[in-house]
Amino acid sequence: MNLSLLHKNALVGGASAGIGQAVAIELAALGANVFVMARTDSKLIETLHMLDTSQGQQHDYVVADFSDSQTLASRVSALVSERPIHILVNNTGGPPAGPITEALPKNFLEAYHNHLICNQLLAQAVLPGMKAAGYGRIINIISTSVKEPLDNLGVSNTTRWAVASWAKTWANEVGRFGITVNNVLPGYTATGRLDEIIQKRAANSGQSPEAVAEQFKTHVPLRRFAAPAEVAAAVAFLASPAAAYIHGINLPVDGGRTRSL
Ligand SMILES: NC(=O)c1ccc[n+]([C@@H]2O[C@H](COP(=O)([O-])OP(=O)(O)OC[C@H]3O[C@@H](n4cnc5c(N)ncnc54)[C@H](OP(=O)(O)O)[C@@H]3O)[C@@H](O)[C@H]2O)c1
Repeated sequence: MNLSLLHKNALVGGASAGIGQAVAIELAALGANVFVMARTDSKLIETLHMLDTSQGQQHDYVVADFSDSQTLASRVSALVSERPIHILVNNTGGPPAGPITEALPKNFLEAYHNHLICNQLLAQAVLPGMKAAGYGRIINIISTSVKEPLDNLGVSNTTRWAVASWAKTWANEVGRFGITVNNVLPGYTATGRLDEIIQKRAANSGQSPEAVAEQFKTHVPLRRFAAPAEVAAAVAFLASPAAAYIHGINLPVDGGRTRSL
């Protein structure tokens, strides 16, 4: 099985923490040159130090805020004019939690912008390089809410579904160029994002954060949260040559939490 990403260039969003950071580490370990992207340069520089260079990989970082899509687009255009990107991992911070009955129009617009519009800009920017290389992997970190809406994540549920439909449409159009498009759907994954959700639920319910976490785990057949590296392993496999015929799918990495087949 060919898992080598040597001489492949990857661009990973939300890579200064959590799932994105774990993905960057894993892609670098398989040999890729990785561009890590997020808003905070100090955290990106820390992340660069975690990336393997033993096969001569060269890594760099891009500071970009997904709420400013024009700057994002111009930074990524500059990047791809120097080095084609073969692997794009679309990932950023999740929309704030809360019931859909209380969500404001601007919450939906922001989430749609940061998750869908930015994915579109990034995918369009890397497409010519992927076509020229005859190799492309677009992997979107979404959520199991694509399959089953999650309680108290109204804006997120609504936006994720749009991203999944966007990705499937891209898959239909770009597959013939050797470019695959797939979605990874994390379940509960031990990151800052999950901590925030647990803290908020605890504050609203009067329970301790530990009690909320234990309650969450009862919904998971494996009875634990994922480590970010476990989600990253799935992303790295989809990025590899070995996964060339896996295309247009939604892959839950959720310890069995999703009840549907
Ligand atoms: N953790 C879970 O249990 C879980 C489950 C299902 C789905 N997900 C989804 O998976 C994705 C990643 O989650 P995570 O748990 O890894 O989150 P995280 O630990 O909060 O990390 C989010 C990353 O995105 C960056 N980021 C946030 N807002 C940004 C913006 N406006 N522009 C650019 N970068 C931004 C952050 O860096 P800076 O702050 O430096 O910009 C950080 O690198 C999210 O969409 C999340 O909803 C997570």
